[in-house]
Amino acid sequence: MSAFPAISSANILAIVASPGQPSAGELHQRFEPHDGSHAGMTIEIRPVTEADLDAIDPRLGSATFFAERRARQRDERGLLLLAWLSGNAVGCVYIAFEEADEAGLREHLPGVPLMHRLLVVSELRNQGIGSSLVTAAEQAVRARGHAQLALGMDIDNFAAERLYLRLGYHQWLHGLLDTYYIVIENGQEVHVPEQCRVLVKTL
Ligand SMILES: CC(C)(COP(=O)(O)OP(=O)(O)OC[C@H]1O[C@@H](n2cnc3c(N)ncnc32)[C@H](O)[C@@H]1OP(=O)(O)O)[C@@H](O)C(=O)NCCC(=O)NCCS
Repeated sequence: MSAFPAISSANILAIVASPGQPSAGELHQRFEPHDGSHAGMTIEIRPVTEADLDAIDPRLGSATFFAERRARQRDERGLLLLAWLSGNAVGCVYIAFEEADEAGLREHLPGVPLMHRLLVVSELRNQGIGSSLVTAAEQAVRARGHAQLALGMDIDNFAAERLYLRLGYHQWLHGLLDTYYIVIENGQEVHVPEQCRVLVKTL
């Protein structure tokens, strides 16, 4: 049985102030659940803090990964947004503001932030949290003066593709992107080549 209550009537509240700039109510945005209801649980989306690191569900990623992304956020190289429900981080998305590793991205989308690791714990999917994380990421990217947001997606990830197309992303015109994924072998990071699709949205 799920450890979490159903949230079909959840409120989803995104707070996407840049870290270190905890300004204003204007950065609080309320997202309505699909069924239009307002009662029930509240999902809060906000940038990770140092204190959060021990509370992140390991299904979202390793402690090492999140500590490393938190460090990049501190250096303003990225932004890690977490979705919280009842004290548990149940979803995440990371936005990279630094230059991409992939030559194709540097050539065709120079300076465009990249969305990585959009993930929602399995028992809370299909209730709007993933879409709200993307919307919160877009808001953060716009607030930093960017006009586009891009992402790389596994060729066969059709569920994620539906979500992105519904939210206004489109496939770029430069074919599949040569990229890599990381595995740890004997304590060392190894880059395994793969190809992915690239989606972009003009914000
Ligand atoms: C992709 C992912 C993040 C989506 O998260 P999610 O919280 O399920 O996303 P949403 O709920 O916003 O949208 C998913 C679907 O639920 C539907 N939905 C959203 N809110 C809903 C609600 N309140 N009631 C019923 N359905 C709802 C959406 O219409 C959407 O339908 P679709 O599959 O036809 O597009 C999640 O499936 C995931 O973590 N997948 C594994 C990791 C992954 O593939 N990440 C993407 C990498 S590119």
